[in-house]
Amino acid sequence: MPIKILMVCLGNICRSPLAEGILQNKFSRTQILVDSAGTANYHIGKPPDTRSIAVAKNNQIDISKQRCKQIQSNYFDYYDVIYTMDSHNYADVCALAPTKTAIKKVQLLLSVVPNSTHIDVPDPFYGNEEDFTTVYNIIDNACTILAEQL
Ligand code: 4NP
Repeated sequence: MPIKILMVCLGNICRSPLAEGILQNKFSRTQILVDSAGTANYHIGKPPDTRSIAVAKNNQIDISKQRCKQIQSNYFDYYDVIYTMDSHNYADVCALAPTKTAIKKVQLLLSVVPNSTHIDVPDPFYGNEEDFTTVYNIIDNACTILAEQL
């Protein structure tokens, strides 16, 4: 059974779909299984934001087939590690954890980056194309470091 990693943001349409696509792209599906979810229910069933699809495509990654889902407390049984994009998501996911030991599965994605200047992947939803490129680069850097550790 490969290690199972869940990437989480608020809406599951901008940041965590990128994190899912970027990390999965560094491995085969038999090596690791990467999935994503949101803490909110706003966009359930929808594909990622067109700006996330575009920036991923520019980097030869297809995230267009992903569909938004909301994290449930039983996800803690299935996934080995849960990476959150920012500290709000971190608090919301920890609040869903069914046990104290389950909370240990939750980490901030940028905690994998040594001496990182920020702890949160900024929310690009109200931003422009350039903000999505910045977010892509922040997540890609973290996933490159994470991939070396796995
Ligand atoms: P995400 O971005 O958490 O990176 O998917 C957002 C997507 C949607 C909303 C906020 C943030 N929203 O308010 O609908």
